[in-house]
Amino acid sequence: MVSQTLSVDAPLDPAALSASLRPFGDSRMLPPAAYTDPAVFAWEQRHFFDGGWTCVARGEQLPEPGDQRAETIGSGSVLLVRGEDGALRAFANTCRHRGHELLPCGAATQRKGIICPYHSWTYSLSGGILAAAGFKNRPGFDEAAWGLTELPVAEWHGLVFVDGSGTATPLEESLATLDGLVAPYEMGRLRVAARHDYDAAANWKILSENYHECYHCPTIHPELCEVSPPKSGANYALPGPWVGGWMDLRGGMATMSLDGQSHGVPLRGLDETGLRTVLYVHIFPNVLVSLHPDYVMVHRLVPLAPGRTRIECTWAFAPESLEQPGFDPGYAVEFWDITNRQDWNACESVQRGLSSAHARPGPLSAEEDAVYQFVTMVARGYLGDRVWNPGRVAEAAG
Ligand code: FES
Ligand SMILES: [Fe+2]
Repeated sequence: MVSQTLSVDAPLDPAALSASLRPFGDSRMLPPAAYTDPAVFAWEQRHFFDGGWTCVARGEQLPEPGDQRAETIGSGSVLLVRGEDGALRAFANTCRHRGHELLPCGAATQRKGIICPYHSWTYSLSGGILAAAGFKNRPGFDEAAWGLTELPVAEWHGLVFVDGSGTATPLEESLATLDGLVAPYEMGRLRVAARHDYDAAANWKILSENYHECYHCPTIHPELCEVSPPKSGANYALPGPWVGGWMDLRGGMATMSLDGQSHGVPLRGLDETGLRTVLYVHIFPNVLVSLHPDYVMVHRLVPLAPGRTRIECTWAFAPESLEQPGFDPGYAVEFWDITNRQDWNACESVQRGLSSAHARPGPLSAEEDAVYQFVTMVARGYLGDRVWNPGRVAEAAG
């Protein structure tokens, strides 16, 4: 429970966080400093992105034994390695000799061992030392003590998560309430057919909050409103470190594309409802999963600075779609690339607006209940409590 005598862990005004935690309908957004202050950003990197499960990749990026790739996580980076046994392992991307990165962030390689590019210390795919030149017979040097630092890793429906803290609740357990909702989409068997990387001049939370409401859709997304009624659907009121909901497709529309038509194959596990809706799910802190009747779009947010976020956007389809002669994922990509850019433009403007000395935390409309869920998760985290959506928003909203 959040105490009303607030002792704040993050460098923010406790009274402002208290206002963010008031019941839905009476609450305020987070204080502007949460989006602009480098000290808050550093706190978030340590506690949100290094402090629990963060999405770092897709399993299909490391299919074979020996596949290795490094990804940013929080204030550092992680080395993902597919072992000879097929298991995926994660190591802190820092050599035990003098700290050189084992691979540059964003790079990938395929090798039977992990070789540091600085003095060539070599580790097995399980992280143990295989060779450290000049140390072999050195008295007191115990090779077993100098293996790579291993971190918990989990593959969940094709997404790879790493727990930088090493102490988080098992991912499958914390996402148990979400599992059944996404299972019919069989994300683990889908294949990425397109990827766009965006660099948005906006805080990662502004991008997240924008994802959680369609209150802005009639104003900035004319294409989206053609295929999906902006007031349709509702948000889930389930507990867990995630926020999400669904929206309907208009009659005659098969998916989210400029003409509402699909050029792929519907996902085989979906029922009638699944074929008429789109699910929008945000797994805290950094992955947005948009589940369509015929494809799954994933936005992975990588915060670079208080006002800057890299967004990796992928579109994945069933193998049956990719096997169609002349299959082109462009129908999905074009629609969302237009919509993404409309969103990033709005988010970048919010970032500039919140940088004003006159910015004050605003109220939330009845259509922004998922924003409330997200904001209260963040506020609880700032207070040193577990980031966990209690799933009571629907009741609070009446
Ligand atoms: S820092 Fe890696 S071998 Fe020296
Ligand atoms: Fe939007």
